[in-house]
Amino acid sequence: MAQEPETTRSTESGLGVRPVYGPEALEGWDPAARLGEPGAYPFTRGIHPTMYTGRPWTMRQYAGFGTAAESNARYRQLIAHGGHGLSVAFDLPTQMGHDSDAPEARGEVGKVGVAVDSVEDMRVLFDGIPLDRVSTSMTINAPAALLLLMYQIVAEEQGVPADRLTGTVQNDVLKEYIARGTYIFPPAPTLRLTSDIFRYCHTAIPRWNTISISGYHMAEAGASPAQEIAFTLTNGIEYVRTAVAAGMDVDDFAPRLSFFFVARTTLLEEIAKFRAARRIWAGVMRDRFGARNPRSLMLRFHTQTAGVQLTAQQPELNLVRVTVQALAAVLGGTQSLHTNSYDEAIALPTDKAARLALRTQQVLAHETDVTATVDPFAGSYAVESLTDDLEQAVLDLMTRIDDLGGAVSAIERGFQKAEIERNAYRIARETDDGDRVVVGVNRFRLDEEEPYEPLRVDPAIEARQCERLAALRADRDRRAVDGALARLREAASGTSENVLPPMKEALRARATVGEVCGALREVWGSHVPDESF
Ligand code: 3HC
Repeated sequence: MAQEPETTRSTESGLGVRPVYGPEALEGWDPAARLGEPGAYPFTRGIHPTMYTGRPWTMRQYAGFGTAAESNARYRQLIAHGGHGLSVAFDLPTQMGHDSDAPEARGEVGKVGVAVDSVEDMRVLFDGIPLDRVSTSMTINAPAALLLLMYQIVAEEQGVPADRLTGTVQNDVLKEYIARGTYIFPPAPTLRLTSDIFRYCHTAIPRWNTISISGYHMAEAGASPAQEIAFTLTNGIEYVRTAVAAGMDVDDFAPRLSFFFVARTTLLEEIAKFRAARRIWAGVMRDRFGARNPRSLMLRFHTQTAGVQLTAQQPELNLVRVTVQALAAVLGGTQSLHTNSYDEAIALPTDKAARLALRTQQVLAHETDVTATVDPFAGSYAVESLTDDLEQAVLDLMTRIDDLGGAVSAIERGFQKAEIERNAYRIARETDDGDRVVVGVNRFRLDEEEPYEPLRVDPAIEARQCERLAALRADRDRRAVDGALARLREAASGTSENVLPPMKEALRARATVGEVCGALREVWGSHVPDESF
């Protein structure tokens, strides 16, 4: 059979393929100056001196669908199978601050995540799960404060003091204006609410990671590695600048910032990407914000394998892709990791697919030797060159955003979105031309795909959730709720009071997610993107 033409595909970032990295790639290159030691500034080699030899990364599988009871069952299963930390997916109505019985929620209740309307649902979601012994990540942005406070209320009911709680709220709305779109309020009140969460947690929930500044969703929208890091770090700079302007000392909140990136199949470039990101962030926090606490300089991050690289064709191939992507994250020094299920390009993962995804991490952690040393690619001609090249590409993009007045100003001009769309078009064109090989899709295809039985979500979820809401409204003290909401509106109307304490009282009185967000919408308005967004 005629040999199929070998295609040379550019790397994700378009930096181009360099066939041979030799000694000249690192000529005059000083490892001590450029790298430092693991656990020391600029943390290129990792944030801890011992990294995984001290403690493996957290295996944190993102999950959640249907009602709180169904998701609770999946979390108990994940913990039983050896998962270390929880990662909660919420449905769109919850993410957008609407109750399940709101018109805007129709057809979305319990679909892409769990429906949470009130503290009652939160109580069911974590029933039987000891909140002093698990760390819980919640992928919630605009209403992050509400979910965090309901989590704290449920912990109080379990007798767990807030200073024992560990976990993360994503709380990164700037990337929602750029990609995905689960924002509620305009940028100014959004940034105020983000700072209120920083200030509240500094005293009330000191071990909580207050934000997960995310590049993942921008990468899934088509961002290159350099764009992913540059747009994420400049969003991070905007959050830090806002909190400092609100009077906080940078070392009071910076140690609890965290990040979230993708891991693509281009393993070498992704390892370089993570190393470059750590080095850049350390420099930004030390030199631009004068942070002195070493923990303020560490870029701690979660990684999820690339959903957009999963294929519906020959879905079992995704097991291989996810393994390579997970290896990239681990060799790049991630702190926690979600591995996608092989069937996710088709439907919600089946229990078996979800278990295989976790087992992939367990094989890497317990059967390979990737935890036996720290930053194994240090000094590699290829990876160190790629790290330096990516670092420069990221810094160039960050300078362009600085010149536009910072991340919010650039967002308002549509800069990041336009850059990502340009790169997405490049990837699509390379794939269509066959220059970018997608096995099973544009090469090595099957004449006929094999049958697959997807997991089906019960359509009666929405009705059941609305019944729960009606019962809650009938059972609670309406005057107490109205009074608490009025108090919240009053706090939100001012500029100096932290809105979280009155918000917590409203939620404890069983105000719903929709009612609390509705009260804030009345004061702050809703974000309506104009054509430049
Ligand atoms: N030496 C010394 N100490 C070590 C160590 C070592 N080698 N390894 C770990 N530790 C310590 C850490 O310092 C930490 O202690 P601390 O709490 O006092 O700082 C403790 O052990 C736990 O380690 P980590 O904090 O590194 O691990 P966690 O898993 O608890 O936290 C994180 C990781 C990245 C900081 C955190 O923010 C996190 O868990 N993020 C997860 C975010 C997430 O899951 N997002 C899901 C998004 S899904 C989504 O958006 C939708 C998309 O799919 C479409």
